[in-house]
Amino acid sequence: MFGRKRLVVTAVVSAAVVIGPVAQAEAVVDPHPILFQPGVPDPRPRFGVPVLWSAPEVVEDAPGVVGVAHRGASEYAPENTLAAFRTAASMGADMFEIDVQETKDHKLVLLHDSMLARTTNVEEVFPKRKPWKVSDFTLAEVKRLDAGSWFGKRYSKEKVPTLPEVMREMRSSGLGMLVELKDPADYPGVEKRVAAALRADAYWTRPDPSERTLVVQSFDWKSVRRFHELMPDVPTALIGKPKASKLSDHAGYADQINPDHNGLTASYVEKVHAAGMDVLTWTVNDAAGMREVLGFGVDGVITDRPDVFRDVVRAAAGREAAHEAAHEAAHEAAA
Ligand code: G3P
Ligand code: CA
Repeated sequence: MFGRKRLVVTAVVSAAVVIGPVAQAEAVVDPHPILFQPGVPDPRPRFGVPVLWSAPEVVEDAPGVVGVAHRGASEYAPENTLAAFRTAASMGADMFEIDVQETKDHKLVLLHDSMLARTTNVEEVFPKRKPWKVSDFTLAEVKRLDAGSWFGKRYSKEKVPTLPEVMREMRSSGLGMLVELKDPADYPGVEKRVAAALRADAYWTRPDPSERTLVVQSFDWKSVRRFHELMPDVPTALIGKPKASKLSDHAGYADQINPDHNGLTASYVEKVHAAGMDVLTWTVNDAAGMREVLGFGVDGVITDRPDVFRDVVRAAAGREAAHEAAHEAAHEAAA
């Protein structure tokens, strides 16, 4: 357990108590420096600088491995709503994940399903518009919907947010954003529209990639490649599990491989790392499962329950610090 990551935990625990260049020197002991250590150069060919970072307080809490709130903290608040993203921030997540779809008038909205029925009251508001595909509705129509009551009455004011709204509202959180292009084949040109939305927001596309956390991913790897060609300085991820023999090809346009945790192995994670990419796995909601994938050496865990992940990482860091202290005490006693 915590094989490769044991080094990372050690490095960042050290970084939390030592300031400046010394902390950076400590951190580079990891043979595969992860993307999330601030100030540590990333040696992999596509990036001269680390492309991702976490706010300092988050690094202390979740050293090394990134906690990503899946559709926001979707165990506790309605998925893909501002309430879910704010809850994720309050629970110490490093990033939040969102699903992007398009309305009839090509506005980018956050919704997991291509139909509006599961997560809104669309059947009540527009009873004659079955099957309630989001692409059959204008943004003005979508904005009339309640996107929270299905989850709980207290969320009745939640609306389906647009991508620009979420970017604006979440700037101050310090969290990173993992943007999933959902069903991009149904929305020809969506990569261009997402790129335009990102470029229009100076916070999320700050010129120095080491100062921001933004990743674009999809199950549709051709779409990821198209997006990469439009915005090569924004990290990308392939959702799924490409054949090991193809990983080096994918590394030409992708920075992460984000597989289902079911069937994931330490050996596969190692192969992804050898190809110069990171692994963020989904959707892991229980502490035992989180500990298992941390043992595989993953770089991030995508979860509906970011609070559980935070506690797992804190406990691991605590164990590591205790181990170090015991080791030092034994060393001194022997001297
Ligand atoms: O981030 C990966 C994960 O979100 C993919 O699954 O169906 O929840 O979008 P899904
Ligand atoms: Ca998703």
